Amino acid sequence: MRFFAGMLFALLVVVAALVALVASGTVDMSAARPPGWLERIVGEALLDRSLARRAPRARNPLPQTPQVIAAGLEHYRRDCAGCHGRPGAAPGPLGRGLNPPPPDLGSADAQESSDGELFYIVSRGVRLTGMPAWGPSRPEREIWELVAFVRHLPRLSPAERRQLAEAGRAATP
Ligand code: HEC
Repeated sequence: MRFFAGMLFALLVVVAALVALVASGTVDMSAARPPGWLERIVGEALLDRSLARRAPRARNPLPQTPQVIAAGLEHYRRDCAGCHGRPGAAPGPLGRGLNPPPPDLGSADAQESSDGELFYIVSRGVRLTGMPAWGPSRPEREIWELVAFVRHLPRLSPAERRQLAEAGRAATP
């Protein structure tokens, strides 16, 4: 009995400390500062586990043909380049003003995600970050075209880089 009373007391102290922390306004909610280590660890773990539970296991049903990749490039420059930028160029004002920062999708880290995980993130977005859900406004096929293009990002041809560079300027507000 005493043990449970002790546990209950400890729990109340922890809850009171958390409430005091929130009420004090110490936690900086601005987007101008990179996330601290605790936010990074908790955020990454939450996203990881949520994806493991929800992302489809399917591979991209579309083939990596030039047509599919060209369609993906068009969507990418309209919807994504403003935040994620393009290979070899610094992100624009939108991307620079976000924390956590929008990652370079051609990086080895981003390429580790499965097709299903990429599809799920693009379609549903990521809470409490700047990553929007595109599923409500774009047809499913467009999202798979984007997944194909994201896969192609590390191997862009010079012509595709030029197309994206024009787009980068157009997409930067
Ligand atoms: C308004 C800014 C913004 C736009 C526009 C945007 N993103 Fe993002 N995106 C982000 C941010 C911020 C993150 C990082 C989320 C996090 O830290 O979990 C992200 C994360 C991602 C990830 C996960 C990468 C990883 O390795 O964890 C993918 C994939 C992605 N975005 C794809 C896209 C695609 C495709 C588009 C265009 C359809 C797009 N994003 C448009 C801000 C944006």
